[in-house]
Amino acid sequence: MKIAVIGAAGMVGSRVVNEAATRGHDLLAIFRRGRPTTLPPAVTAVEGDADDPARLSDLFTGVDVIVTATRPAPGHERTVAATTTMLLDAAATAQTRILVVGGAAPLQLPGRPDLLVLDSPEYVPQEWRTVAAASAAQLDACRAHPADWVYLSPPAVLEPGPRTGIYRRGTTTLLTSADGASRISAEDLAVAVLDELEDPREDRHFTVGY
Ligand SMILES: NC(=O)c1ccc[n+]([C@@H]2O[C@H](COP(=O)([O-])OP(=O)(O)OC[C@H]3O[C@@H](n4cnc5c(N)ncnc54)[C@H](OP(=O)(O)O)[C@@H]3O)[C@@H](O)[C@H]2O)c1
Repeated sequence: MKIAVIGAAGMVGSRVVNEAATRGHDLLAIFRRGRPTTLPPAVTAVEGDADDPARLSDLFTGVDVIVTATRPAPGHERTVAATTTMLLDAAATAQTRILVVGGAAPLQLPGRPDLLVLDSPEYVPQEWRTVAAASAAQLDACRAHPADWVYLSPPAVLEPGPRTGIYRRGTTTLLTSADGASRISAEDLAVAVLDELEDPREDRHFTVGY
């Protein structure tokens, strides 16, 4: 498959690029400022801004599937929904499926389907509320858009770590392990992204975790 990754220099995007390249896919790594210094063979790196849908729909021509893993600088969280809508516009113009790596906030709490992670002080202390609310608005932007999108909510904790290749997949409820932790490495999140791209399921909103 030819896969375009936006936010390719970021924590998630760089791991999606590596996982996809390891699996033999063709990669178009789209970065904004921080051009990746080392990239696997078969990866083409190009500049592109998610806020420039005309340029992006050009870049998406001939691409089989798009992964977006952008994150604005701190203080600019309220731009997330608008940026996501522009990406969805570009994907729709190119008639290409798009997987959005978003946030955990719009997931339901385990055992409390009436509550979202967004509303849980346990997972979202006051200082993270703006970031969390931006993720919820991002999923709302997807739900309102006619593009062929799928939204991946990471678990509560997503950070660099080992690639085990083993994870659980859920739909709209936060996954926690026996010890109550909700986490996955960015490496294993990338495994889950590629598994979804290679073998798409029906869920438009899904999550993963250990
Ligand atoms: N537990 C959770 O819910 C959780 C935890 C972590 C991350 N996440 C989510 O995972 C996704 C990826 O996060 P991350 O940690 O990988 O972020 P990151 O390491 O900060 O990387 C984000 C990348 O996006 C790029 N970017 C930002 N705005 C852009 C734009 N308009 N056009 C093109 N590129 C743009 C940045 O490029 P520049 O260098 O040019 O700024 C950067 O390379 C985000 O949706 C984030 O919210 C969720």
